Amino acid sequence: MHTNVVIDGIPHKGEPSNMSDAYLAAVATRRTNYAITAKSSVSDEKLEAIVKQAVLHSPTSFNTQSSRAVLVLGAENTKLWNLVSESFLKGVPDDKKATAQARLTAFAGGYGSVLFFEDQAVIDDITAKIPIYTTLFPVWSTNAAGILQSVVWTSLTLEGLGASLQHFGADPAIAAEIHKAFNLPTTWTSTAIMPFGDPAAPPAEKTFTPIENRVKVVKA
Ligand SMILES: Cc1cc2nc3c(=O)[nH]c(=O)nc-3n(C[C@H](O)[C@H](O)[C@H](O)COP(=O)(O)O)c2cc1C
Repeated sequence: MHTNVVIDGIPHKGEPSNMSDAYLAAVATRRTNYAITAKSSVSDEKLEAIVKQAVLHSPTSFNTQSSRAVLVLGAENTKLWNLVSESFLKGVPDDKKATAQARLTAFAGGYGSVLFFEDQAVIDDITAKIPIYTTLFPVWSTNAAGILQSVVWTSLTLEGLGASLQHFGADPAIAAEIHKAFNLPTTWTSTAIMPFGDPAAPPAEKTFTPIENRVKVVKA
């Protein structure tokens, strides 16, 4: 029997067991949720398995496997957000400090974080081997990072966790402190930090530009 599955307002015809419908429903479920708690209904072992599976199977250009991830849990997560907060707030103007502090306190109050990196040693190596793509390898590296982040984010959401995507590691001073705190290789460049935890509230409403303005179908 065919059923209508509606994903983001777009009707899809298909069997209820249609695998792509299930996958796209999962994609639509992934949301930014800043309201996270220090609890996780998902075990640490399951979280580790999710991150490992995501890193293993997310694609990278030329299969370089340049992406890296660190799962930070418990007291280590508090340590992470304390150092990020201290360093970040130094550069925030006084009138914006309270808002920034509130946002950072919310992340520190989560259960854990996934740190994402790209290993520049791998990018340098492939660039030396295939120099015609010198300008493209860094782009493909960040593309691969985004794919991995999306897979982890969607997986965490499917498990009922709230998560968001942060970029405090783009600040070299914060990045250096993270490397020191977790003894990470210097060739690992931070691409994102994903704080997560059991949700305290649902995600905010989201609006959509009409899909017809964004996707065109061309056929004979
Ligand atoms: C590449 C990328 C970078 C983002 N950077 C940040 C960020 O630095 N801080 C943040 O709070 N959200 C960040 N976001 C989250 C977006 O704001 C969010 O995904 C978007 O508003 C859509 O909302 P949704 O995630 O609930 O679907 C980022 C998302 C993407 C895809």
